[in-house]
Amino acid sequence: MESVSLFAPASIANISCGFDVLGLCLDNVGDLMHLEKSNKPGFRITEIKGQDLPLETEKNVAGVAAQALLKAYKEPVGFELKIDKRIKAGSGIGSSAASAAGAVVGINKLLGEPFSPLELISFAMEGERLACGSAHADNVAPVILGGFTLVRSLEPLDVIPLHSPLELAATVIHPEIEVKTADARAVLHNKIPLKKAINQWANVGALVSGLYQEDYDLISRSLVDEIVEPARAMLIPGFDQLKENATQAGALGCGISGSGPSVFALSKGMTNAHLVAKSMAEVYDKIGVPYEIHICPINPNGVQFIEPKNK
Ligand code: HSE
Repeated sequence: MESVSLFAPASIANISCGFDVLGLCLDNVGDLMHLEKSNKPGFRITEIKGQDLPLETEKNVAGVAAQALLKAYKEPVGFELKIDKRIKAGSGIGSSAASAAGAVVGINKLLGEPFSPLELISFAMEGERLACGSAHADNVAPVILGGFTLVRSLEPLDVIPLHSPLELAATVIHPEIEVKTADARAVLHNKIPLKKAINQWANVGALVSGLYQEDYDLISRSLVDEIVEPARAMLIPGFDQLKENATQAGALGCGISGSGPSVFALSKGMTNAHLVAKSMAEVYDKIGVPYEIHICPINPNGVQFIEPKNK
């Protein structure tokens, strides 16, 4: 195999109660990538469409992730990458994670899959480190494994794929402003009261149980964030109203997608997810905030290989 084309999906990190540990993979929102083997050793990005991002390997999240993989591979091999960037940087749906994860999954395929999914997650995390100064795995894990994931530990890296109820659907509204993850992390408090911590880990456990039992009421009761959301809500226009409208329209829960500014809601079934989208759109229509909306099921596959368009 000399080249691959792939779809690198967007993702929602945190999922309300699981800051830096829970994530899920979105369907039909993501970047397109094309990777080719090259006779010249090393990794190069030759084209980025859709966003103004650096081509230099060491300044690009896909480049840094690819370098981490090539360093571990040890033999001299060469690759060239073209990216059609469809996820906006700083939108809160894992733009950097999609680039980093797509690059390492693609290279791994062209090398005959010498690395495990866990190793690929650790390479892709280097992209996150470049993007925001913190090598968190809650976006790259679901992009590589698909579905819902839980990052139990970073050192050593321990990632647990979770069950995704088939009917669960996501609505994501993106107010067209950029919030840098590093800035959204800077507003967080370093210390949290024990009572809030107790509530938070109770909700994480309950949410995981709700996913496995496909208990939508329990999922709904558990989609609560007492720690991060209160600190970050002020970064997002109309956040409280979005949440109010989504809940009134029947969402199981609503919260900040990753570090924002996108806001997500989970619903039972696509029909409800569309109703929730309408209710959230009304908020921004009323206050005049430009936005885009994604409505999709949970993607069980993660990065997917596709036929190149010109084949
Ligand atoms: N868990 C990270 C955060 C995700 O909330 O900062 C960033 O996309």
